[in-house]
Amino acid sequence: MSVRRIEVQTNPAYNVYVGPSALEKVHECGLQKDCVFVLADEKAWSLHGKALVGLEAAPRLEITGGEDAKTLAQLGSVLDALTASGLSRASTVITFGGGSISDLGGLAASLYKRGIDVMHCPTTLLAQVDAAVGGKTAINLKLGKNLAGTVHQPRGVFADPAVLQSLPVEEWASGLGEALKTALVGGEASLKSLEMLSPELTRQQPETLSALVADCVQTKARIVAEDPSEQGPRRALNLGHTFAHAIEHCAGYGAIPHGVAVAVGVSLALEASAAMGILENGGLIERVNKLQKTLGLPSSLADLRGRHDLEPEGLLAGLAQDKKGAVNKPEFVLVRKPGDLALGVGMEGSLLQSLLG
Ligand SMILES: NC(=O)c1ccc[n+]([C@@H]2O[C@H](COP(=O)([O-])OP(=O)(O)OC[C@H]3O[C@@H](n4cnc5c(N)ncnc54)[C@H](O)[C@@H]3O)[C@@H](O)[C@H]2O)c1
Ligand SMILES: [Zn+2]
Repeated sequence: MSVRRIEVQTNPAYNVYVGPSALEKVHECGLQKDCVFVLADEKAWSLHGKALVGLEAAPRLEITGGEDAKTLAQLGSVLDALTASGLSRASTVITFGGGSISDLGGLAASLYKRGIDVMHCPTTLLAQVDAAVGGKTAINLKLGKNLAGTVHQPRGVFADPAVLQSLPVEEWASGLGEALKTALVGGEASLKSLEMLSPELTRQQPETLSALVADCVQTKARIVAEDPSEQGPRRALNLGHTFAHAIEHCAGYGAIPHGVAVAVGVSLALEASAAMGILENGGLIERVNKLQKTLGLPSSLADLRGRHDLEPEGLLAGLAQDKKGAVNKPEFVLVRKPGDLALGVGMEGSLLQSLLG
């Protein structure tokens, strides 16, 4: 099976390689071996680090993955480690891990000596379909998630489906939720492709998995090239996210995987789109429900309520925290049809009450 190459036409442009042995492509990107630093998720590295052949001896910092990696203190540790390794401006940071590692490593690379190159080797499904592409970097601050960051496009991204075999079940589901969102944002062809792939989508099917990741990367690449700094059309990728953040806030961060909350957020956004007369064809709701079932994702708040405390008041309080709109005026991405979204839409309190009730 060949490795797919998808170009992201930002300035500068870069390639995303998807498929078995994509990690071997790292060496075809003009790396100077003595100018490389690896920032790795310790778990992902212990399981799959050997796939990054030839870089065993490069200076490396292994850290615990997950949200705790994205702190000011960790950023300081990474910058100190880059300095201690004597990295020059011509050096490259290679991240090996999920979105928390690429967010942190991308930020450190954008700051070190006013910016050095970064390449990402995403090891979670969520990072392969979403986080590693597009150049957004971030850490969390005391008052909120992703509040400090930069836009720093990587020089290359290398997504090998083999590393996903060891993912915990909840991380797998999280990636599928983001993939569902991306398919709807991508348009009719992307959605059809996910419908075709989904019955066969397992971690043991590298060809199906590579096709899924490649579809998502293609959509993200197209949107990011149009709008690298998220002033306009890139906001479409936030479909389902205003609701998802409220769900995560209400259940307690970490209780529900982000992409799983996004899957339910997408359903709520579709329901809202129908209620506001924006959705062109109600049949889309059934199509998405069917996909959620096939992918093993929840499709409604009711599906989550058995195991999580998601009272309407708590959800409304979570919505009030939305950073995109004005204070207490959350904004939503709604759907006209696949690939055609309404951005920055406000919603009546009564509609929100009925959606979240
Ligand atoms: N920059 C962006 O555009 C963007 C987009 C989406 C999400 N994000 C960020 O990504 C972060 C979430 O990333 P994530 O979901 O990839 O999770 P993660 O990086 O937090 O990792 C989740 C867990 O999976 C483990 N893990 C990683 N690879 C593994 C593997 N191959 N096998 C077994 N375990 C493995 C990690 O050790 C960790 O415990 C969030 O902080 C989010 O804000 C960024
Ligand atoms: Zn997301």
